[in-house]
Amino acid sequence: MCGIVGYVGSQSALEVVMSGLKRLEYRGYDSAGVAVLADGGLATAKRAGKLVNLEKTLGRRPLPTGNTAIGHTRWATHGGPTDANAHPHLDNAGRVAVVHNGIIENFAALRAELADRGHHLASETDTEVVAHLLAEEFSSCADLAEAMRLVCRRLEGAFTLVAVHADEPDLVVGARRSSPLVVGVGEGESFLASDVAAFIAHTRAAIELGQDQVVELRRDGVTVTGFDGMPAEVRTYHVDWDASAAEKGGYDYFMLKEIAEQPKAVADTLLGRIDATGSLSLDEVRITDSELSEVDKVVIVACGTAFHAGMIAKYAIEHWTRIPCEVELASEFRYRDPILGERSLVIAISQSGETMDTLMAVRHARGQGSKVLAICNTNGSTIPRESDGVLYTHAGPEVAVASTKAFLTQLVACYLVALYLGQVRGTKRADEVQEVIRDLSRMPHEVDRVLETMEPVRELARSLAYQDTVLFLGRHVGYPVALEGALKLKELAYMHAEGFAAGELKHGPIALIEDGLPVVVIVPSPRSPLHDKVVSNIQEIRARGACTIVIAEEGDEAVVPYADRLVRVPATPTLLQPLVATVPLQVFACELATARGNEVDQPRNLAKSVTVE
Ligand code: G6P
Repeated sequence: MCGIVGYVGSQSALEVVMSGLKRLEYRGYDSAGVAVLADGGLATAKRAGKLVNLEKTLGRRPLPTGNTAIGHTRWATHGGPTDANAHPHLDNAGRVAVVHNGIIENFAALRAELADRGHHLASETDTEVVAHLLAEEFSSCADLAEAMRLVCRRLEGAFTLVAVHADEPDLVVGARRSSPLVVGVGEGESFLASDVAAFIAHTRAAIELGQDQVVELRRDGVTVTGFDGMPAEVRTYHVDWDASAAEKGGYDYFMLKEIAEQPKAVADTLLGRIDATGSLSLDEVRITDSELSEVDKVVIVACGTAFHAGMIAKYAIEHWTRIPCEVELASEFRYRDPILGERSLVIAISQSGETMDTLMAVRHARGQGSKVLAICNTNGSTIPRESDGVLYTHAGPEVAVASTKAFLTQLVACYLVALYLGQVRGTKRADEVQEVIRDLSRMPHEVDRVLETMEPVRELARSLAYQDTVLFLGRHVGYPVALEGALKLKELAYMHAEGFAAGELKHGPIALIEDGLPVVVIVPSPRSPLHDKVVSNIQEIRARGACTIVIAEEGDEAVVPYADRLVRVPATPTLLQPLVATVPLQVFACELATARGNEVDQPRNLAKSVTVE
C-alpha cells in the first residue's frame, strides 16, 4: 500500500527512482510524485492517476538532474487521489520533501498544533504534518536524521517515512514503524524502497530495517539507529530474485506471466524439502519437533486469497494430523479475544509478508504465548521476521495485484506443514508422507497440462463478458476454490460474483438461479463421497435454468449430461485438487477482465500489499 523509493549515488536519481516506482506501482496507483535534490534546492513533480501521468508531466517539464531523489506511488487513505494530495509533501519553505506509507493516527492533533504555530497545510493528507514537523526540528538541530527521530517519537500509527532536505544534498533519511522499508547497498550508491523489486536491477545486497529504526542513506553506505538514537545492528542479506523475474517477459500482463509460471513456482516451493530418506525436512521452520508435537490447536490467519489457501489447509491439517484447526480472517481475529495458549500453533499466510491485519494477528498471537509460523513469499518482510518460524514459498516476485502463483505455492506450503505435523506427531506413517510427496511432485506437470488446455476457457470468458453475475459452487476443498474463483472475478472483472458451499445452495442461494445465469461448479473427484451430491446440485440448478460451467476430473463421465460447458482437470488426490481446479478460474477471470477492457494488473481501488488496518 503505497510504494516508496529513495536513491543517493552517481546515476541520475530521477531515472533510478522512476524505474523503481514502475516496479512498485502494484502497491497503489492513485497518484505518483518525485522530489530531486539539485542545484542547492528541491525540485518536485506530482500527478494524480497512474505513473504514466507523472511521466508525461516530466516529459513536458523536466526536473533538473540530481543524484539524490525520492519517489512515491500512492494508494489513497487520507484525502482523495488529487494532485494536491499526491506525495511528496513539502514544508512551507519548500526545503523538506517527505513521502509516506501508512497512517499517522494522531495527525489531526499535530495538524491543529502546526496551524496554531502559523503553518499553512496545503493538502488533506496525514503526511504533510511530517514535512512541517521535520522542518521545525531541522531548524534547531540542522541534522535530518535527528529531526526524523524526534518527529517519529511523536507519531502514532504505522508508517514508513522517507525525507530529503535541500540543505543535506547527499542524504536520504528513512524511518519505519510496522510498515515495510528495505535498504539496498550498491557500489557508491544506496537505495531504499518498500520492496526489493524496486532496486534489484542495481543491487542484490539488502538490509532489513527493524521496528522503530531510522536509516541514513549516503553514497558510501548506510547508518541505522533506533528512534532513540542508539546505533542499531545491521544485517545484510542477498536477494535471490533476479531482475528479469520482475519484468513481463513478453506477456501482455504480469498476471498472465504469473499464471504461466505456476508449474515452476510449485516445483520451486517443493524443492529441497525432502531429505535423503524421503522424509520431509523443514529446516527454516525454527519451531522444534517437540514443540510441534505438543500442539493442541492450529489457528490459521490470513487475508484475501491467502485466506482461501488457509481454508483449504484446514482440510489437510485436520485430516492428516487430527489436530483441530480454525481458519480466521486476520482482520477479525484479535478483536474477538481468541482462545490461544502456549500449545496453539498460529499459521500466518501472506504473500507480501506486510499485510497489516495479518501482522497484527501475529503480534496478538505471540502476545498470548502461542508459536507463530509464517508462510510467506517475501524474504525479509515483517511477518516472517516477527514470527517464531517461517516456511517461504518460492513463487518469485508476484506483481499483478490479483494473486495467482502465490496462492498455489501457499497451498503447497500448507500441505507441507500439515504433512510435517503428521510426521512429527506420528499420525502419518513415513510411507504415507512419501506417497503425498510423490503426488505433490506430480503437480507441476499437472498444472502445466491444465495451462495447455485453457483456450476454450478463454473463449467462454469472452462470451460471458457482458453478464452481470457469475456464481461459483464447490464442496469440501472445492468450496474455498469457489470462493477464490469468485474473488478473482470481483477483483478483475468488477462483476457480482459469489462462491457458495454447494450443499448450502438449497438453504437460500438457489433463489438466485434464473434463466441463463452462469454457474461454475467445481466437482470433486468421482472417488470422493461428495461427487454424486455435487452432480445432483448441478442438476438442481440446471433444472432452474442455470448455464452450468463444470470443472471436473478427466474421465468423470457422470457430469457430461449436465454440463453446458465442461472444463477438464487432471485426476488428483481429493485434497490436492485445488492446485489444478483453481487455474481455470484464474484464466477465466483474467480473460473476462480483458474482454471488459479492465486493467488486469492494476484493478481499480485495490493494492497488492495492504499495509493499513
Ligand atoms: C490484498 C491483495 C490480495 C491478497 C491480500 C493478502 O488484498 O489484493 O490479492 O490476497 O491482500 O495479501 P498477502 O500479501 O497478505 O498475501
